[in-house]
Amino acid sequence: MTHAIGPNAPILLFDSGVGGLSVLAEVRKTLPGAPVIYAADNAGLPYGTKSEAEVAARVAGLLGRMTERFHPRLACIACNTASTIALGMVRDVLHVPIVGTVPAIKPAAAMTETGVIGLLGTAATVRQTYVDNLQAEFATGKRLLRHAAPRLVEAAEARLRGKEADPEIFSEAVKGLREQPDGDRIDTVVLACTHFPLVQEELAKAFGPAVTFVDGATGIARRIAALTEGQPLERIQPDYAVFTGEPLDQSLSPALAHFGIERVEIF
Ligand code: DGL
Repeated sequence: MTHAIGPNAPILLFDSGVGGLSVLAEVRKTLPGAPVIYAADNAGLPYGTKSEAEVAARVAGLLGRMTERFHPRLACIACNTASTIALGMVRDVLHVPIVGTVPAIKPAAAMTETGVIGLLGTAATVRQTYVDNLQAEFATGKRLLRHAAPRLVEAAEARLRGKEADPEIFSEAVKGLREQPDGDRIDTVVLACTHFPLVQEELAKAFGPAVTFVDGATGIARRIAALTEGQPLERIQPDYAVFTGEPLDQSLSPALAHFGIERVEIF
């Protein structure tokens, strides 16, 4: 059954946890009136340590059920791990426009002056051929040093719950890049996981001033705006989130409210 796009048809933003909120922040700036449902598969968090098959199955299954239930005008996979693994497959099976999140290698290659780019992502993201292809297409002649920093996901989840993250997590991420050959020449770091911009302040302190960070959020917001151009957008109820896992942690409520999410339901 097809549904006409009503003015209050939501944009569905999907991530494994709170990482997609870094994308939501940019979507708010570009499309302040857009109704949004934020979806977190926190029962499946973290994706970055799972197999490709498991991530693909979860993402395709959940997005299928969510699009049936919520009839979004567009779904955004606000997660690099899920996108680099499952974007093509999800686009093949769902009849709704899908915007993915892929590592911002292209803008980083345009920004670097030393020619050496660092990339921080989850273990699953850094091993994807999707990333090899972006590197081949946009960063030929540059050096791209990758490092899997799964504990940054944990740090971002903690930070949004008002908890202090272990400072070792940030220095480990820095070391993982700087200690590779040519790592001392990195001047641009791709935050290839949507959780990481949520701890950018801590990362900036750990890296020092010689490094510029780049992530995909502004590009995604621009893409969503382009795909919804001309459509009426009207928020008739406060935006809300759906989480796949219980129990719901009240400590997250202030951070969700900061991003305009006033209520959480279990999906
Ligand atoms: N936020 C996700 C990403 O952009 C990953 C977090 C996780 O490991 O689940 O890659």
